[in-house]
Amino acid sequence: MKKPFVFINCAVSADGKISTVERRQIKISNELDRERVDKLRAESDAILVGMNTVVGDDPKLTVKSEKLRKERLKKGLPENPIKIAVGNLNRMKLSSDFLDYGNAEKIIFTTEKSDKRKAGKLRKKSEVYVLGETKVNLHRMMEILHEKGVRKLMVEGGGTINFELLRERLVDEIYVAIAPKIFGGKTAPTLADGDGFRADKILNLEFLGLEKLEDVVVLRYTIEK
Ligand SMILES: NC(=O)c1ccc[n+]([C@@H]2O[C@H](COP(=O)([O-])OP(=O)(O)OC[C@H]3O[C@@H](n4cnc5c(N)ncnc54)[C@H](OP(=O)(O)O)[C@@H]3O)[C@@H](O)[C@H]2O)c1
Repeated sequence: MKKPFVFINCAVSADGKISTVERRQIKISNELDRERVDKLRAESDAILVGMNTVVGDDPKLTVKSEKLRKERLKKGLPENPIKIAVGNLNRMKLSSDFLDYGNAEKIIFTTEKSDKRKAGKLRKKSEVYVLGETKVNLHRMMEILHEKGVRKLMVEGGGTINFELLRERLVDEIYVAIAPKIFGGKTAPTLADGDGFRADKILNLEFLGLEKLEDVVVLRYTIEK
């Protein structure tokens, strides 16, 4: 199967949470780390998030730095990477930063559980692929993205979509930026949620290196094959 190079980037508290129990978007890392993330975005062909993140956080998912956007245009690339949402589109608003902010192509990968009329309306702003009855076939999604020319795919959470992609062995690398904070709370989301791996199926990582950005430490891993 041909697929893009896929990496997860995630900011976590020292206790491994990607948000608090309120499950809202909050600033976790620092300014230097946000610049690192912006560079990663600028080097990617597409950025993918799960539907809870789209609906709850309404992320813009664009390259923040004007200089980096201009550099992309100079290279003949679109100003921003493609924005991708995965999940049931019934909860999506017809206007949002995800759909409307910045100059970027959008793709929604969804299932037959999604309302067809709503899908029709969203098609005015985004491509929509129906790939599966109740769950998006993530392998097929990767093939389609590769066919569309996506070679580098950045995944920006949340914990459910991260886990699904890890379980399907579709992730090549992970960056974890650890911030000096404790969020606590057993219902607070973590880097990888979903059903979790059983002890005999744990996913082993290989350490690639680390970067210290003031009080934030960024760990980089590849997935052991
Ligand atoms: N710190 C960070 O770096 C960071 C980054 C992003 C998000 N977050 C936080 O993460 C939290 C959200 O995480 P989350 O785990 O609740 O949600 P999520 O991963 O953003 O989205 C989960 C949803 O994605 C859809 N989905 C995932 N896999 C699918 C598949 N194979 N087929 C179809 N749909 C699929 C489902 O949507 P449907 O149920 O609609 O089908 C599922 O409920 C928020 O608190 C957010 O602020 C943190």
